[in-house]
Amino acid sequence: MIIAIDGPAASGKGTLAKRLAAHYGLPHLDTGLLYRAVARTLTDHGDPLDDGAAAVRAAQSLDLGHLDETRLRGRAMGEAASVVAAIPAVRAALVAWQRSFANRPEGAVLDGRDIGTVICPDASVKIFVTASAEERARRRHRELVSRGETVAYEDVLADIRRRDARDSGRAAAPLAAAADARLLDTTDLDIEQAFQAAVAHVDAARRETA
Ligand code: DC
Repeated sequence: MIIAIDGPAASGKGTLAKRLAAHYGLPHLDTGLLYRAVARTLTDHGDPLDDGAAAVRAAQSLDLGHLDETRLRGRAMGEAASVVAAIPAVRAALVAWQRSFANRPEGAVLDGRDIGTVICPDASVKIFVTASAEERARRRHRELVSRGETVAYEDVLADIRRRDARDSGRAAAPLAAAADARLLDTTDLDIEQAFQAAVAHVDAARRETA
């Protein structure tokens, strides 16, 4: 079973994907980390984020199985990842690895922006997770503060809006719900309620295909 979870920044899709993976005993891939790692490599080498050739080299040489999550999670890397993710050749360099992760015999849970539309269009279950920009900014602000970053809520909200516009407006694999994705708006749901709604959807989809 492949479960594809897509949605905008800080929608709760990562937490949901992790919990679904644990619940169904499946491996989980947070595909945002791949783009964050490309951005990190460019930053470490002092290369500009719009240097397409350097970004593709970085994508091709990533040690994809061993990404250091804590180094990649900060606010600056989210923004930088969104910039490199708009380069079509960077996306192309990461497709095969994501598909091979998804197509292992036991299945997998992948979360990102284009999993249901481009990476795994035949996924058994697709969920598009949304929440209002204000609620996503509140969550991301709480998370960043708990990680020790000093940042104002208004700045986080502006980041979220900028990232939404870039991720949805780019030509290559823009953020979009697949036509057959179930929409899950978590604005007024806590993590447990969102998880229960997702499990109900996955179980219903499994019964349909059984
Ligand atoms: O999910 P995240 O916030 O860690 O992702 C960081 C950026 O990477 C996001 O703004 C857009 C990009 N991304 C993407 O374009 N496609 C994916 N499948 C995952 C992330």
